Amino acid sequence: MEPQTQIAFEPQILAFCCKYCAYAAGDLAGSMRLNYPANVKIIQVPCTGRVDMLHLLKAIEEGADGVYVAGCLEGECHFLEGNLKTKRKVKAVQKALAEAGLEPERVKMFNLSSAMGPRFAEIAQEMTDAIRELGPTPMEKQC
Ligand code: FES
Repeated sequence: MEPQTQIAFEPQILAFCCKYCAYAAGDLAGSMRLNYPANVKIIQVPCTGRVDMLHLLKAIEEGADGVYVAGCLEGECHFLEGNLKTKRKVKAVQKALAEAGLEPERVKMFNLSSAMGPRFAEIAQEMTDAIRELGPTPMEKQC
């Protein structure tokens, strides 16, 4: 009998990245030829303040294994408090996930500047490792 090969779990992660910081940091990471996992699909947003709780919940509902929002450093949002408002939205979504019996760690928020290319790559790796550890979402994949 042949040994069964186990297929490694490759998480599907969605990242909402502010164009002024995280998205630019992602470009920098690319220019620096830094590697980060292909598990992360990036959505550029004009400010993390535009990310709604429904966007995060919908991503989870449709089968994303993890979702994160990456915005400007606190006090540096181009729209003043967009990142602070979204920090509160992320906390509320984490609470809702916990109440629904899902791991709140599937949704996170990070802050960085456009000059932090290495941190961008690190965050993508950190999030991929954390979600790998949690395992696949119990939600049915819609995509
Ligand atoms: Fe970057 Fe608001 S402009 S988080």
